[in-house]
Amino acid sequence: MATTAPAQVLVASNRGPVSYTRSEDGTLTAKRGGGGLVSGLSAIGPDAGAVWVCAALSDVDREAAHGHTRLAPEDTGGQQVRMLDIDAATFADAYNGIANSTLWFVHHLLYQTPLEPVFDEGFRSQWAAYEAYNSAFADALAEEAAQGAAVLVQDYHLTLTPRLLRERRPDLRIGHFSHTPWAPPDYYRLLPDDVAAEVLRGILGADRAAFLTHRWARAFADCCAELLGAEVTHEGEELTVTHEGRSTRIGVHGLGADGEFLRERSHRPDVDERLADLREQIGDGRKVIVRVDRTELSKNIVRGLIAYRRLLRTHPEWHGRVVHVAFAYPSRHDLAVYREYTAEVQRLAEEINSEFGRGEWRPLILHVKDDFARSLAAYRLADVALVNPIRDGMNLVAKEIPVVSDDGCALVLSREAGAYAELGGDAIVVNPYDTEETARALHEALTMSTGERAVRTKRLAAAATALPPQRWFLAQLEAL
Ligand code: G6P
Repeated sequence: MATTAPAQVLVASNRGPVSYTRSEDGTLTAKRGGGGLVSGLSAIGPDAGAVWVCAALSDVDREAAHGHTRLAPEDTGGQQVRMLDIDAATFADAYNGIANSTLWFVHHLLYQTPLEPVFDEGFRSQWAAYEAYNSAFADALAEEAAQGAAVLVQDYHLTLTPRLLRERRPDLRIGHFSHTPWAPPDYYRLLPDDVAAEVLRGILGADRAAFLTHRWARAFADCCAELLGAEVTHEGEELTVTHEGRSTRIGVHGLGADGEFLRERSHRPDVDERLADLREQIGDGRKVIVRVDRTELSKNIVRGLIAYRRLLRTHPEWHGRVVHVAFAYPSRHDLAVYREYTAEVQRLAEEINSEFGRGEWRPLILHVKDDFARSLAAYRLADVALVNPIRDGMNLVAKEIPVVSDDGCALVLSREAGAYAELGGDAIVVNPYDTEETARALHEALTMSTGERAVRTKRLAAAATALPPQRWFLAQLEAL
């Protein structure tokens, strides 16, 4: 029986370390959650004694969570996890409606504004669900936390929770961490005024609000100043936002890759097996351009493929000599726009293969299925890593590939990824909308000399692992 003693350290996030699936024999099986946030937080480990509060994401999760305060430790690798069994309709409105279709779109500048967004009565009922979902987290955290405990609330799903928790438990030390970019004030103002203000005030309920880069931290402070009239003070790069008589410190922690884990994991037999398969599909002596993403609008996969097509059109000397390996694992497919985007990626991939494919050379290998071991195999083979998001809080793939690649790789990187702040100096930097420039960057990356590639990869890997997940987590905790 898991302990249920009040916790000194708590973490709250929408997605938890595991989600459940039902096997054919009817039993529930726990599977590791995906995405940058879970990769980062998983490093906490059971030894830290923290309790992780998360949401049930599906009917199977709700069944696993129902009636239990904590999940079985054998499902979670020993981590204490409380999974909230929030009703399906409230969860769907909060997660799909507000978190992923509204706040995610605002922070990644994804709206096509002549048509979207429209804030109508449907939006209002989703917003009420988001408030209820945030309250459910605040209730659970208030119940679980020991006197004076530290609570680290994560991401755009839980912007109202810090303030709601402070109302319930003023004794707690509360932190909030945003894993996304933050929108500049002129774009953030698209939100209805009351909603825009509630989100800011919600986060300001924390003692400390932290971001992945200074750029996102400054944008948040700018929104607080412009929309709430909050006072922003600077001490060097450190910002403090004061509003309604309370001050919130603004912090920056650039989550890095877990070098030790990745190097070990990428040489296990399951990865070796997939490496052999991939080598066979690619063929001998060909250069490899790798990208790995969620099927996510902000990752800009379509423009990446257009740039690759442009490379093949303008540089016929690469025909038969390069293969683009693009792995995109399905994400947020409850939303029609994500399903359509995935279909567009698949359509374009077929077009490229039929335009250029000759004999046994298939210029593009696209897989839309999650397989971590296969992604690591692709990382090992990469001569070039392509990371071209429209906008991204950090992008851990940009940090992982240089660490794992067997022979070093050249990194083509969007200047709109948070990772640009740390890796920009050794990457070939592109404007993510400019497919001509991206095609030229791919050519430059493919022709980079072995010596230069080795030197750059070494520096990229060092910068990428400067703040590995465990230290990133401890840094947040200490700063509280
Ligand atoms: C981003 C977000 C995370 C989220 C992840 C995966 O990294 O910042 O909060 O968990 O994407 O998205 P999903 O909707 O599948 O949880």
